[in-house]
Amino acid sequence: MNNPIIGKWALITGATSGFGKAIADLYAKNGCNIIITGRRAEKLEAAEHVLREKYNVNVLSYCFDVRDLTMCIEMANDLAQREIVPDILVNNAGLASGKDKIYEGLIGDWEKMIDTNIKGLLYITRSILPAMVERNEGHVINIGSTAGHTVYPDGNVYNATKFAVRALNEAINLDLVGTNIRCCSIDPGAAETEFSIVRFGGDEEKAKKVYQGYQPLLAENIADIAYYVATTPPHVNITNLVVYPTAQRNVYVWDKKA
Ligand SMILES: NC(=O)c1ccc[n+]([C@@H]2O[C@H](COP(=O)([O-])OP(=O)(O)OC[C@H]3O[C@@H](n4cnc5c(N)ncnc54)[C@H](OP(=O)(O)O)[C@@H]3O)[C@@H](O)[C@H]2O)c1
Repeated sequence: MNNPIIGKWALITGATSGFGKAIADLYAKNGCNIIITGRRAEKLEAAEHVLREKYNVNVLSYCFDVRDLTMCIEMANDLAQREIVPDILVNNAGLASGKDKIYEGLIGDWEKMIDTNIKGLLYITRSILPAMVERNEGHVINIGSTAGHTVYPDGNVYNATKFAVRALNEAINLDLVGTNIRCCSIDPGAAETEFSIVRFGGDEEKAKKVYQGYQPLLAENIADIAYYVATTPPHVNITNLVVYPTAQRNVYVWDKKA
């Protein structure tokens, strides 16, 4: 059966692993052309190859750091030259770096999170959204977090960045009134991706413990939601969607068996 994203273009930032990779896969599986980004060239090339071979859709990839405004603009210019206006922008690239008390936190971690999660999202949005507005068509999907709803101990700066994403999601929605462009924030709770490995500086043992004793969300679950959001009729604007694993009812209330 046909679906609304067949033949469209989706730009997904941070598609070398986790949610971004799963969203790219599901969108491509449903006939959507894909633009993926990330910093790890090898993983990006592999993902590009798999999507093209598996689903026979058009795939473009751009290897850069979303903290680099010039690179964000260059990608947008390249897309414009190819006469491609993304129909869907998934602002997914992001990370947590460290989990320390605010009085012990590393400034480098803070800068990484603020520059990626807030400024990177803004750079990409500022580079891509004007073409959507000009065409009066498009869908922005921001990947926020339940960390943007409730602060948890030692989450401080990561929480602050995701609170900012929630505010920006709301602001983008307001600023788009009068256009046909929709904007949604999908805010997941605990999900097993490379997220905790990155947060704990590559410590896989420590990362594994975060997901022990319960069934965390999987990247595929978030992809299903991102697909649902993107395929609702044009007059339906889901602005915010919060999703936890069943074993986690909020940031504090868990059913962990171990
Ligand atoms: N997992 C969770 O529990 C959870 C819950 C709620 C929200 N989130 C959010 O979901 C989003 C995706 O995270 P994930 O769980 O899928 O983690 P992940 O597996 O670590 O994926 C993160 C993706 O972001 C990319 N990325 C990170 N920094 C980047 C930068 N400076 N420039 C370009 N790309 C960058 C990474 O690619 P490269 O390393 O190749 O650049 C990777 O593709 C993040 O915004 C995260 O905050 C995660």
